Amino acid sequence: MLNFTYHNPVKIVFGRGSIAQLPRLVPADAKILMIYGGGSIKRNGVYDQVIAALKRNPPAEFGGIEPNPRYETCLKAVEQVKAEGFDFLLGVGGGSSLDAAKFIAAASVYKGKNPWDMMTNWARVPADSLPVGCVLTLPATGSEMNGGAVVSREETKEKLFFNSPHSFPRFSILDPETTYTLPSRQTANGVVDAFIHTTEQYLTFPADAPLQDRQAEAILLTLIEEGPKVLAEPRNYDARANLMWCATQALNGLIGSGVPQDWATHAMGHELTALYGIDHAQSLAVVLPGMLRHQRERKRAKLLQYAERVWQLRDGNEEARVARAIERTEEFFRSLGVGTRLSDYDIPAEAVELVASRLEKRRMKLGEHQDLTENDVKEILTLRK
Ligand code: NZQ
Ligand code: ZN
Repeated sequence: MLNFTYHNPVKIVFGRGSIAQLPRLVPADAKILMIYGGGSIKRNGVYDQVIAALKRNPPAEFGGIEPNPRYETCLKAVEQVKAEGFDFLLGVGGGSSLDAAKFIAAASVYKGKNPWDMMTNWARVPADSLPVGCVLTLPATGSEMNGGAVVSREETKEKLFFNSPHSFPRFSILDPETTYTLPSRQTANGVVDAFIHTTEQYLTFPADAPLQDRQAEAILLTLIEEGPKVLAEPRNYDARANLMWCATQALNGLIGSGVPQDWATHAMGHELTALYGIDHAQSLAVVLPGMLRHQRERKRAKLLQYAERVWQLRDGNEEARVARAIERTEEFFRSLGVGTRLSDYDIPAEAVELVASRLEKRRMKLGEHQDLTENDVKEILTLRK
């Protein structure tokens, strides 16, 4: 097992009716700014629940955070925070609203000229970033229990993230009932995102870490069972709850502790979203099957374990089992209604060159060996046309 430090300070309050606990979680004298998206919370009653819970200390509001939150929008919220002196941010919604809250919390006290610089140098995320609390309504990103925030910049068509110990939420409320109103596309996106967060930390090379392996397999198996159930029965509380807890566990640092991590699928997916506006999970579903096929020799040991333990594939030679496991993965995404080809989203052929050259310019170290080349990226995407 590799060395690691694990610290996760996020208090999780999980279950039906848990938004009512907000007054206990937010500091009594806090001046709160609530950050939310395009209005789903007003339509599904989550907004009303938050306002009712905080009636003794009503929050001010900043709505209109876009899916794939925009830097330009976040900066408007930063102005409001500075002008009115808010000292607590409450992100309410999916990963985009939560990430925006974390970014705004950091940018509001950032001393440098350009808060975007935090994205390229995480050490710049201020230690005194404003405290953030979350009410999650879309299980997918794990943002509710990690220090990550992904923000997109319209001007340069960049989508970058920071990950900082100063950006963990103080608490996150997870009420599965708030997810009943998700359109099936977003529910499916959530399953795929959580699945691929898990594979990014599992489908690498063996580190003799059987506990982390089995934790990852537990998440994958549960997603395979519960994902279709939730799509068929959107108001099945237990299935919703299981999905929500899987997504949180997939990216709260636990399964990635002490093992190699990949994240190249995410890096490539972020470029696809930045350039062509496809959903985050859609971008991952396109890239992952190509990544696994292209890297199958280097990932062979873990792919064989995955084939056997997750897809129960025990027959045939090794090559065939690996190939079948990758096919089953792609079939699973498609069965949820998530397209897995560039052509499913009308992405032009030039995307292959464009994504590869943009990643090359960023000098990102890609993959668990940190050595994927521009050409590898091209070959992977060429497999996905
Ligand atoms: O904007 P509103 O009106 O709230 O509607 C949203 C949005 O249109 C809607 N929605 C959310 N909850 C709902 C609901 N509609 C009905 N009922 C509900 N209960 O769903 C749409 C998508 O929401 P969004 O927050 O954008 O989705 P998601 O949670 O998938 O977040 C995606 C963002 O998170 C980033 C992605 O890159 C992307 O920017 N990620 C963040 C990570 C992190 N912080 O660790 C890691 C991930 O890999 C990911 O990159
Ligand atoms: Zn993701």
